[in-house]
Amino acid sequence: MRTKDKDVNILGIETSCDETAAAVVADGKIIKSSVVASQTRLHEKYGGVVPEIASRAHIEKIYPVISEVIQQAEVSEGDINAIAVANQPGLTVALVIGVTAAKTLSLMWEKPLIAINHLHAHLQSAVLDEEDLELPAVALIVSGGHTSLYDYRSPLDPKLLGATIDDAAGEAFDKVANILRLSYPGGPSIEKAAEKGNPKTIQFPRSMLGRDSLDFSFSGIKTAVLYHCRGQDMKGEDKVGSMSEQEIADIAASFQTAIVDVLIKKTERAVERIGAKTVLLGGGVAANNELRTRLQAMCETAVPAKKLLVAPKQYCTDNAVMVASLAYYKYKARLFADLSLEPKATG
Ligand code: KG4
Ligand code: ZN
Repeated sequence: MRTKDKDVNILGIETSCDETAAAVVADGKIIKSSVVASQTRLHEKYGGVVPEIASRAHIEKIYPVISEVIQQAEVSEGDINAIAVANQPGLTVALVIGVTAAKTLSLMWEKPLIAINHLHAHLQSAVLDEEDLELPAVALIVSGGHTSLYDYRSPLDPKLLGATIDDAAGEAFDKVANILRLSYPGGPSIEKAAEKGNPKTIQFPRSMLGRDSLDFSFSGIKTAVLYHCRGQDMKGEDKVGSMSEQEIADIAASFQTAIVDVLIKKTERAVERIGAKTVLLGGGVAANNELRTRLQAMCETAVPAKKLLVAPKQYCTDNAVMVASLAYYKYKARLFADLSLEPKATG
């Protein structure tokens, strides 16, 4: 692929959790290369991400992944205009690997360094291809570590409207999959099991946290599934081993529908609150088909109807395209970081 003189090529780096990713994106939307080295296999036997293992795997993969995207994009160091890295939020021991690599390249290649918020980047993956975005928009970001609603009026300054006060939606999927002895990561395996289940079998709680709240709480539903499987107060024996495939499917479907009910209701509230014209959906849980379909239905039946923009499935889970794409807007605004940039767990 040839690089035109006017392209602004940004190398994006992402290591906030368990994916080592890099990408080269031109002008915020032309994806020249993207590589994601997933660590799922390393963490699956623990049923969740082990920070120390994640950190070591990032150290191993970061150099090969960056070399690969530079090669695939057919660019040289001289064609890269800036180095962008997700520096928050995430696991500090994981973020630090990407941040250190980005700082090193910025220093060696004498390119500006751009710090990116990982959640704002997830949001960017929903608007990658959008030419005429009608604002304001409400953005729902649902991932393994976060569940957040934003008032989105510009890529550089999304305003947080609400967030989870305990577990993230993806985390609830992962923990419930663990209870049901389904494979890790839990989201895709619950979704698959739920296909054959009846979502009306069990009425799991839908925590709304008061009439006006835009915050989320998913720890109660996880406990409800646990009690359903092990008896109240965990006094009974674990029934999962003796459950039929159909019973597991019914629990998975009932759980998934309860989570989606809450996500839809809160998004609807946020839409009404800010008078949104568009809804954006991103993050790993945005790959879920029930969530995508029902959010689409909510947007269509709203008065007036809203436009729904969903991240393409390959950019729902962690990737560096979203980092490099968002960095373009920071590049244009000359919002650069310096070599004192640090990883931050929150943000
Ligand atoms: O955005 P992501 O890759 O990582 C974080 O930033 O956390 O999200 C990973 C999360 C995991 O909890 C995974 O179970 C969930 O996204 N996930 C899904 C689906 N695919 C991934 N949840 C529900 N349905 C899916 N199809
Ligand atoms: Zn993420």
